[in-house]
Amino acid sequence: MSGAEARREELVALYKEVSVCEKCVLHETRSKTVFGAGNADADLMFVGEAPGAEEDLQGLPFVGRAGKLLNEMLVEIGLSREDVFICNVLKSRPPNNRDPLPGEIAACEPWLFEQVRLIEPRVVCTLGNFATKLLTGNPTGITRVRGVPQTHELGGRTVFMLPLFHPAAALRTPAVKEQLRADFATIPALLEKALPAPMPSAAEIDEAESRVTEAPSPPEAPAADQLGFFGEPGS
Ligand code: URA
Repeated sequence: MSGAEARREELVALYKEVSVCEKCVLHETRSKTVFGAGNADADLMFVGEAPGAEEDLQGLPFVGRAGKLLNEMLVEIGLSREDVFICNVLKSRPPNNRDPLPGEIAACEPWLFEQVRLIEPRVVCTLGNFATKLLTGNPTGITRVRGVPQTHELGGRTVFMLPLFHPAAALRTPAVKEQLRADFATIPALLEKALPAPMPSAAEIDEAESRVTEAPSPPEAPAADQLGFFGEPGS
């Protein structure tokens, strides 16, 4: 079995686990979990906030109005839903589309990190504040960070992360829609860009540091006149 096939099988197993997840109270009110959908080998992954009403009924991400806008913007950069993988921070719908709670995000985030590990994207676009703050580990709001790629370790790999406005915000405000469109236009070049070498892990840094402290100190450099740089001593 190829590496890609093995990863796909693991993703199917993960899907089954998520579909019966009861790690937070949202399982009591959801209709279906929304694992995510698309290409399991995608170079490009989108992470939204949480399923809405339509997503909860269908068990699929971004199938409402915001999803339609996402599809349009993908087409504008020469891609389709089949080329990318789309999922959310939360796999279950919060009642009345309220904001995700910190405990719900904490309970759900291991599923997302596993998805990134198995799909192995090169570029992860975070849609809106919740996905951006979670995946960048930085509380700075989306308005200040959007459109500027960052490099992060995610799911054990180095990825480019591109924070974007949430398509639902773009539907509400035409100026936001134009900014989202402009940021989308930068995605193809980012997909082509070489990823930086993985950063060393904390354990690797400790290892390297202990090797430096353990190494014997080099002998003191002899004085220049002992080396005969200026001719034989006494000559
Ligand atoms: N908004 C999201 O963040 N995710 C969806 O799946 C749909 C709307």
